Order: sequence, then C-alpha cells, then structure tokens
Amino acid sequence: MSYPDKVYLNGSIVNSADAKVSVFDRGFIFGDGLYEVMVQINGRFFYEKEHIERLQSGLQKINIEFDANSLKNEITTLLKAVALNDKDCMLYIQITRGIAPRQHSFPVDMKPTVMMYAVPKVLPEINTANAHVITRNDFRWSRCDIKMTSLLGNVMLNEEAMQHECYETILHRNGVFTEASHCNLFFVKDAIVYTHPANEYILNGITRMVVIELCHSLGIEIKETPISLEELNTIDEAFLTGTSTQIAAIQQIDDYRLYTGNEKDPVTQRLQEAFLKLK
Ligand code: PDD
Repeated sequence: MSYPDKVYLNGSIVNSADAKVSVFDRGFIFGDGLYEVMVQINGRFFYEKEHIERLQSGLQKINIEFDANSLKNEITTLLKAVALNDKDCMLYIQITRGIAPRQHSFPVDMKPTVMMYAVPKVLPEINTANAHVITRNDFRWSRCDIKMTSLLGNVMLNEEAMQHECYETILHRNGVFTEASHCNLFFVKDAIVYTHPANEYILNGITRMVVIELCHSLGIEIKETPISLEELNTIDEAFLTGTSTQIAAIQQIDDYRLYTGNEKDPVTQRLQEAFLKLK
C-alpha cells in the first residue's frame, strides 16, 4: 500500500509531502480525535449517510464542535483532485480537537484539524477469506462505541493475529465475545444469528447494522445477545463484518474448527449473497 500524492487538510488539497500538522495537535499528543472509513463502490459511497451520522454522533460524544455534513462537498473536491471521483476507492476521514498547549481538559475555542485522503480500493464481490482467528481478552477501554484515533489496544490485539498468521483477533470481556480488533463479530447457532448488543463495549459498525437489516429482510432470526466463551463449541457458523472486510466467514477459532472448507456455512453465505446485491 502506498501513500496518496494529495490529501485534504483543513479546507485545502495539498501535496502529501507538504501536508503539515502541528506537533501540539491534540490528535498527536492525546489521540484526541475521531476517524471514519468508507468505501465508494460503483460511483457512490456505500451507506455514506450512516457513516457521516456516526461521525457526527461521535463528535458530539466528545464535545468537538464540527458539522460532519459540511464534509460532503469537500469529499467531492478531494476525489476530483485525486481522479477518483467515479472510481472504487476507500476514504479516510480524521478530525482531531486541534492545537492547544498540553492540558487534559478540553480547551475552549478550538479549531478542529480535519484530514482526509482517498486511495483506490476495489473490494472483492464476496470475501472468500475463510478466516482463522485467535481469541484474546478484550483489554481495551469501556468506550469502544467511540471511533477514536487512539487505537493502540486494537493495534496490539491485531498484531497478535498477524504473529499467529491469522486474519483477526476476536475479543471477549466478562466471559462473552464482544467484537474483533477491527471488525464486528457474529455467530450462528441453530439458524439464529447472534451478535453483541451495540453498547459501550463495541463499535456499532455500519456493516453490522446492514447485516442486521439483511437478517430481518431475509427472515433470519437475529438476536443482539452475546455468545459466551462456554458456548463457543456449540456454534455452527461465525463471521466478521466491516467496511473493507464486508462479510468474512470464520473457519477456525483458536483450535476449534468450524468447517473444513468444502462444506458450506449456509447462513453466512445467504448473507454474503444478499450483501452483494446491495452493492
Ligand atoms: N474498522 N469494530 C471495530 C473495532 C472497527 O474498527 C471497525 C471498523 C468495525 C466495523 O465497522 P464498520 O462496519 O462501520 O466498518 C467494528 C475500520 C474500517 C478501520 O479501523 O479501518
């Protein structure tokens, strides 16, 4: 993966090499900022409204005054500047509280720092990863609903998956599965789909929400109820969801093999096929 040549920074399109942010930016000092990731598919952003709304609601949660809707025109300008306006691509948006002398409490009259970049990204029609995942204790903080830039916990947990040559790390807290280092997590048991409720222990993923809606429209029973560690060896299927992951079937959790690779996991496949139609 390479860096884009140009980025959007505080109202201007600049060469990446010339894009400068102060070392006193609270994003740099405290990780005091939020981000969003969305993908453009066939010339339109997939669930753009929902991504912008989540960003706005995150900004409100941490008291950053900024109108996320004002980004829509800026996104168009950025995409034109990097010749991606009608191309499949990934857009990254980051908003930090801005620059101030270091103090923990929120300074007043802040000017948020806004950075965005877009890179070409063509997603596969269906994610055929058949993921192997490891399980770890979810040691992150208790406000995982905030899509903050300080992702050290997620980064450390994801690195462990890479060290084990696995696709992801799935997390448990207080004896139940929450989500994964950068995806949401679903299980299927007796044809019922389960996922952790959208509270402060998970990020309420846009793909998660789409999958829940798909379950409703396909007549698949869905429960926002967590699966416990003890229940793991009773589940039939498991899958991950996320903006670039889409829907990825999980084949193996630690040493627990869900399927060998030849047989099908019917609920996950139905959802993958229905998801494909949405695009
Ligand atoms: N990750 N949970 C976590 C911890 C995440 O970081 C993400 C997204 C999700 C899925 O959310 P969504 O369906 O809205 O993408 C769940 C992004 C893409 C990332 O950090 O790159």
